[in-house]
Amino acid sequence: MKQFIAGLPKAELHLHIEGTFEPELMFKLAERNGITLPYESVEALHKAYDFSQLQDFLDIYYQGMNVLRTEQDFYDLTWAYLEKVAKEAVRHVEIFYDPQGHVDRGVSFETALNGIHSALVQGEKEFGISFGIIMCFLRHLDEDAAFGTLDSALAHKDKIIGVGLDSSEMGHPPSKFERVFAKARDEGFHIVAHAGEEGPPEYIVEALDLLNVERVDHGNTCLQDPELVKRLVKEQIPLTVCPLSNTKLCVVDDMKNHPLPEMLKLGLKAMINSDDPAYFGGYLNENYEAVSGILGDDKETLALLAKNSFTSAFISQDAKDGFVAEVEAYIKG
Ligand code: HPA
Ligand code: ZN
Repeated sequence: MKQFIAGLPKAELHLHIEGTFEPELMFKLAERNGITLPYESVEALHKAYDFSQLQDFLDIYYQGMNVLRTEQDFYDLTWAYLEKVAKEAVRHVEIFYDPQGHVDRGVSFETALNGIHSALVQGEKEFGISFGIIMCFLRHLDEDAAFGTLDSALAHKDKIIGVGLDSSEMGHPPSKFERVFAKARDEGFHIVAHAGEEGPPEYIVEALDLLNVERVDHGNTCLQDPELVKRLVKEQIPLTVCPLSNTKLCVVDDMKNHPLPEMLKLGLKAMINSDDPAYFGGYLNENYEAVSGILGDDKETLALLAKNSFTSAFISQDAKDGFVAEVEAYIKG
């Protein structure tokens, strides 16, 4: 099954590029930038990756991204990710990044964006991985700050395809950003939001009704609300599920209890993603492997998840059809 997963063509739709910052690269860039990390070694940093909730992770994630200073740093970070997933049959990526996490510490909007974007352009040339960039608003910050970030993005619509919402969910419902997302929609950006990772199903309803999301990132808690499930099934709203993230952040107590099989049984359009792989113990293939057992090691179901990843992407119908045909050819083998 491991080999089948390794060769299965797939897309990644929920991936924070800052969450791919491996300790080895973090130490290397810290040295390059003359920054002293509060950890003695790669091993000591690894040991700190022990989280009991989302906020524990976020504290370390923001500390880690502080090492990223130059356009070259963002390029190197993105390139390291692409080199890795090029070997995992990943054909298309839609990458999140947190501009406010950089601008607020003095790194310009363009520095981060250009570094990430030029690596993705090179990755498409060298590895044939197509891409989109989605910038996320940090929901623990206020509406004004999000408006300012959206303004900065308007000059870069050639590089940014969508806007999302991430960071600390509890106490920061989607409604806080209704007006910002209305403007982003008017400006033609695709719309997604993290909802229902730790937050209640009401936050998912708000993401749908007030933000008009095209996909829900995570969405786990929808299962507490049968009416919401019915709606998500009827409208076939994609849920970008992240199995290893869920167990690492204690959203799910044990992988054997992961809700993905139930989600599929109910007819929800879910697929598998890696979220912050450097922190959660695995990239896309490891996430597929983690849930393969509870899905009955069933190739058809794994292929369905891969197809869902492509049909949920912000790409043309032709591109979707091409990728789905590739998955079908692969399983016929
Ligand atoms: N949830 C919320 N915010 C995030 C995450 C996540 O899983 N990863 C990076 N920022
Ligand atoms: Zn996420």
